[in-house]
Amino acid sequence: MAIMVAEHGKWPAKSDPIFMIAGKAAEAKEKYGADKVINSTLGALMDDDGSLVAFDSVYTTLKNLNNAEIAAYAPIQGTKEFLEAAELNCFGQYRPDAHIRAVSTPGGTGGVKQAVWNYTNTGDSILTTNWYWSPYNTITEEIDRGVETFDIFNEDGNYNLKGLKEQSKKLLDKQKRLLLILNTPAHNPTGYSVSDEEWDEILDFMKKEAEDKENKITILVDAAYIEFAGEKDERKKFFKKFTNLPDNLFIIVAFSTSKSHTMYGLRSGAVIGISSNEEVVEEFYYACLHTARANWSNGTRGAMATVAKITNDKNLNKQYQEEKNKYKKLLRKRAEAFVEEAEKVNLEILPYRDGFFVSIPCDNPQEASEKLMKENIFVVPLQKGLRFAVCAVSEEKCKTAPEKIKKVLNK
Ligand SMILES: Cc1ncc(COP(=O)(O)O)c(C=O)c1O
Repeated sequence: MAIMVAEHGKWPAKSDPIFMIAGKAAEAKEKYGADKVINSTLGALMDDDGSLVAFDSVYTTLKNLNNAEIAAYAPIQGTKEFLEAAELNCFGQYRPDAHIRAVSTPGGTGGVKQAVWNYTNTGDSILTTNWYWSPYNTITEEIDRGVETFDIFNEDGNYNLKGLKEQSKKLLDKQKRLLLILNTPAHNPTGYSVSDEEWDEILDFMKKEAEDKENKITILVDAAYIEFAGEKDERKKFFKKFTNLPDNLFIIVAFSTSKSHTMYGLRSGAVIGISSNEEVVEEFYYACLHTARANWSNGTRGAMATVAKITNDKNLNKQYQEEKNKYKKLLRKRAEAFVEEAEKVNLEILPYRDGFFVSIPCDNPQEASEKLMKENIFVVPLQKGLRFAVCAVSEEKCKTAPEKIKKVLNK
């Protein structure tokens, strides 16, 4: 029973487990020294010495803005320069040939909220993979929506397209409406990226389902980690496939500058709607404006100005790309070290392609995480296994971690 809050505001009193474990990791670092501790908890890019990476190109630009440019309100939809920059950054050279409209959001989280609120009805369930970022659940449950899942991988360890199709059909039969959230490329927590061939199969299937004109299908591409995926722009090719889709198959991309520009705390991103039908994106635009006004009003103007300047100024952009690529390479080396060692010591991990995390399936993740803490290894327990954040751990430690984890899991 709630004391003072209204019934819908009463949730279990629990603190965020990730921040709790990160706190314990910080204590261990203090007590035993940084070299003895593997802190693989937070989903932010850390240097080898454990400090947060913050791109110089970004922060020099931000600090060079004049005060009024930071202080002013932004338009609810976001500044024109920012929205253009968001689209450019997001699609790279693979902008779909379609009607496209964007609205700024506070990070990718705001984008997920926009899609869930505006593209499902009360009581509906969204569909995503069984390993998923837990705020999908928080966002949906708060507004009386549910989460249905399909197993992300089949028994052969391949992406489970069959499960995706079956569950989509089931929800469409029931709701005549589907919001499929795919966090790709560089899925949190597995590091999987849907391949171009898999995208073809997903879109072919959805086009078939869209032949029933009563079906309303929306795919939200949560692209939070896209800048750290693949070689150059190769993981953006799939955007081109969102060309010539039927009117009742709508695509939303949740673009976030949190990782791409190391701007986590500046809360800036955008939802980008893509459709062959202009009315569909117009409707999207005004729905998102309303939701923005009702929830956070407008975004952070200084963050928008920074992203726009970095995108449009040749020299700044070069500097930004160099910084980003340096860390993209560093991340890849760390992940390769972890994956190779895991293979050597026979530690089972889920198929990793790109990004900040590797997942280790296991029984009793909570217990396993507690045992690992005693060995000064801090990982996040999820429902079905452990999440190791390669983004936060040096290559050297990524090399030693799998054997240590294997030993603890075997105990
Ligand atoms: C899967 C996923 N989606 C979206 C986000 C968006 O984060 P933000 O709201 O900070 O941009 C994150 C960040 O951790 C994430 O892991």
